[in-house]
Amino acid sequence: MSTNQDSPLAPLPIADPEASRRVPITREDLVVVSDPASQQSEQFRALRNSIAALNPDGAPRTLVLTSALRGEGKTTAALNLAFALSERPGAKVLVIDANLHAPAIEEHLGVARAQGLCELLGGRLSPDQAIRPTTLSGLSFIGAGAKPPKPSEVLASDRMRTLLRTLKQRFNYVLLDTPEVTTTSDASLLAGMADGVVLVVRMGRTPKSYVDQACRTLESMGANLLGTLLTGADLPNTAGRR
Ligand SMILES: Nc1ncnc2c1ncn2[C@@H]1O[C@H](COP(=O)(O)OP(=O)(O)O)[C@@H](O)[C@H]1O
Ligand SMILES: [Mg+2]
Repeated sequence: MSTNQDSPLAPLPIADPEASRRVPITREDLVVVSDPASQQSEQFRALRNSIAALNPDGAPRTLVLTSALRGEGKTTAALNLAFALSERPGAKVLVIDANLHAPAIEEHLGVARAQGLCELLGGRLSPDQAIRPTTLSGLSFIGAGAKPPKPSEVLASDRMRTLLRTLKQRFNYVLLDTPEVTTTSDASLLAGMADGVVLVVRMGRTPKSYVDQACRTLESMGANLLGTLLTGADLPNTAGRR
């Protein structure tokens, strides 16, 4: 694929669905794949089990992962939770990069940037063209695509709501990686459309007042806050192979 996708002049290519299927997942922080027996991986499986327990009839669910501040581990958590969900027999899981300000899903998965959510919402790409497989049979993703001039307007559209409804017919879980709550309205907007929200909190780093503010903002948009996921504990260094 082309190497200059970040240039504003170079339009993003339409993804080759077979290309991402062949790319191994190698990042160490994607612990559920890189260190499946670790305590941190078990934390993601425990979160998966809690989410499943809240949903005894097994109906398809859309979940937003967000945080109060940038860099708390949203993207890493979205992918690790997606891996844990996709371990269940027959699961079909989709991760959407809905952080149109700072897309990161493709980079974390080690695949090339391509057209995605933005083009899909603009009607220029079909779901089949946007949905890309991974090496894990139960897990697919949609990248962010090209950054639109006004991300919030694109995400607030009825098309986004319709898209989530459509995708729930194809996947058991649709996870949305979003920007932090305190700097844009995107996460709370999406949280209001989704079935549930998980707030990622970096231990020892995020002041409680920011966490409280993020919860209030999310709830004011009608979000169903399922719980918080604490990240950044020293657990990975004391368990597993490291
Ligand atoms: N549980 C964790 N413990 C330690 N570092 C983490 C953890 N989760 C994420 N990180 C690291 O923090 C950085 C930011 O993570 P990322 O998921 O990209 O954050 P966000 O999406 O919230 O901006 C990455 O370098 C990632 O490896
Ligand atoms: Mg991120």
